[in-house]
Amino acid sequence: MSGATAVGRPHTRLEGHDKVTGTARYAVEYPVEGVTYAQAVQATIARGEITRVDTVAALAVDGVLAVLHHGNAPRLATGVDAELFRLQEPTVHYRGQVVALVVAESIEAAREAARLVRLDYDAQPHRTELSAQDPGLYQPDHVNPSYPTDVLVGDFDAGFAAAEVRLELTYRTPAYHNSPMEPHASTAQWQDGRLLVHDSNQGSTPVQEVLARLFGLSPDVIRIINPHVGGAFGGKLYTKVQTVLAALAARHVDRPVRLALTRQQMFGPVGYRTPTIQRVRLGAGRDGRLVAVGHDAISQTSTMTEFAEQTAVYTRHMYATANLRSTHRLARLDVPTPFWMRAPGFAPGSFALESALDELALACRIDPVELRLRNDTPVDPDSGQPFTSRNLAACLTDGARRFGWAGRDQTPRARRAGRWLLGTGMAACTYPTRARPAAASAAASADGTFEVRINATDIGTGARTALWQVAADALGALPERVRIEVADSALPPANVAGGSMGLASWSWAVVRACERLCDRIAELRGSVPAEGLFVEVNTEEEVAAQSTLPRFAHGAHFAEVRVDSETGELRVLRQLGVFAVGRVVNPATLRSQLIGGMTMGLSMALHEAGVFDHRYGIWVNHDLASYHFSSNADVPAVQAHWVLDEDSQLNPLGIKGAGEIGIVGAAAAIANAVHHATGVRVRELPITLDKLL
Ligand code: MOS
Repeated sequence: MSGATAVGRPHTRLEGHDKVTGTARYAVEYPVEGVTYAQAVQATIARGEITRVDTVAALAVDGVLAVLHHGNAPRLATGVDAELFRLQEPTVHYRGQVVALVVAESIEAAREAARLVRLDYDAQPHRTELSAQDPGLYQPDHVNPSYPTDVLVGDFDAGFAAAEVRLELTYRTPAYHNSPMEPHASTAQWQDGRLLVHDSNQGSTPVQEVLARLFGLSPDVIRIINPHVGGAFGGKLYTKVQTVLAALAARHVDRPVRLALTRQQMFGPVGYRTPTIQRVRLGAGRDGRLVAVGHDAISQTSTMTEFAEQTAVYTRHMYATANLRSTHRLARLDVPTPFWMRAPGFAPGSFALESALDELALACRIDPVELRLRNDTPVDPDSGQPFTSRNLAACLTDGARRFGWAGRDQTPRARRAGRWLLGTGMAACTYPTRARPAAASAAASADGTFEVRINATDIGTGARTALWQVAADALGALPERVRIEVADSALPPANVAGGSMGLASWSWAVVRACERLCDRIAELRGSVPAEGLFVEVNTEEEVAAQSTLPRFAHGAHFAEVRVDSETGELRVLRQLGVFAVGRVVNPATLRSQLIGGMTMGLSMALHEAGVFDHRYGIWVNHDLASYHFSSNADVPAVQAHWVLDEDSQLNPLGIKGAGEIGIVGAAAAIANAVHHATGVRVRELPITLDKLL
């Protein structure tokens, strides 16, 4: 027994060697006897009906086994998820919807045949443009995942009207596409009525359940395996279309089927972050103290199913104010259904509010760090209850110190080096910290080794390694004596890797399983019988019984930019973030998560935007040549730090989760730095050079 020492120490990923040497297998890389290849065919109209499918030329391609479409595909159960109800109906809901699927002996034959599938349509007029003037804007029942649509505290209108300083500003963010290195991909095999899927997802327990419902099966005849996932960013939360299609096709041809979406097919059919239009109104005293905060957000959903981005929820929990208004409205358009993307709601929402705070700081001539400290609150403005912990002030002051913020002249365009205009900016951030119930098992062998099993998912974040560290400490064992098994639906069921809830939830179950096992060993006076010991626990009751006080992680971002005064060329020189994210399990992978989020925020600030052609109902830039995101050359010195953040009201280890908070506020810090450098306020992302000239 070594004592509890693994948690808090940096450790490289357990699977790191397999990944960098190419032996780690992803969803379509498993050798499978008799495997076939599928290729999706997408609709070329934005709305209407398929009137005819001509598969003659496609079927004539050597090696083609089948062309599935609504006229011949096996039937799926209705009422599960309209986005997944593919090849079942002639209706086209958006351009890019999968309308046929070719299955062939080779990927080349499948691709060639997909090109030859002829579809005729009865095209109808479509609407794809998000507009604040849209008469069809409506108020959804709730916003994701289950927040009230509107929150009104105090009297916003009266507070705003009476405020000494008033700002009314509109911010916009474009559509963003999740493009992880591994596309959405699945290999599906049926055998004796059982379905085995090697799948790329953020958690296989819900995928197993959804497939069971779609195919009318019991979940226990379905097994989903996902040991390595090449990134996801929210786009692989829950079942996606390729998993369903691979299973459908495998049933139809009675052979195993591999289906990987192409990079181009990732732009739409798997979801994306909705564009937003956000009106922010701030009323404050001349001392910068907020008296009224309003945030009205508009986003889009599809005609098939409702997805309501929680854009204004950020504002409900951030700054002290007696009068708070936050609302969400949705437009139903002929577009693919938006979906989760890292820090849903909070990423676009924080861009608006944290930019507006910067505008208020200038209007009041108050330093933006000081403005945020002045409006800090131990009490959640939405619920009126105290936060379980709130270390925002520590992040702000520590970040300002590390960055060298003191003595900053807030006047725009005040610093220059030759042609370059220099500026610094900052923003704060928050993200909810939650946990979900999970099950885990722990086993002891007579040889002194242990095995811990949980259907957690490691999407590349280091979750497997962190859980192994947690398990070792909970067992009081040397880590090398502990084995961790994750990523298989045959393991004890657990929640998805999402919502920054993974480690907080899974570690809870792992700790309880290990504690129970240690109790059993203690009852046997420290001896493990020859047949070993096994326990399985479930945290359902304990999670349900936790306090309902508001619980959040916090942080502060700082950025420095330079802008060429003649060409508008914009370079970010450095980003620095300080976060309060609870107990740190693995500093190495935590740092990667945080700088990854910050880099994605940089990308949001400067590069990413889905450019939509409303005539044709399609994103023009639907590949990685034209959909720009930050690359190594764009990422300067990025530093992530954290402050001590103890919270005993969360979960056994006090973990807050850090997968998302790094992106929250990062784009605003850069936009604020750009304003400081140039005097130009860009309220519509991304900040391209044409907007600076
Ligand atoms: Mo995250 S968008 O919950 O994977």
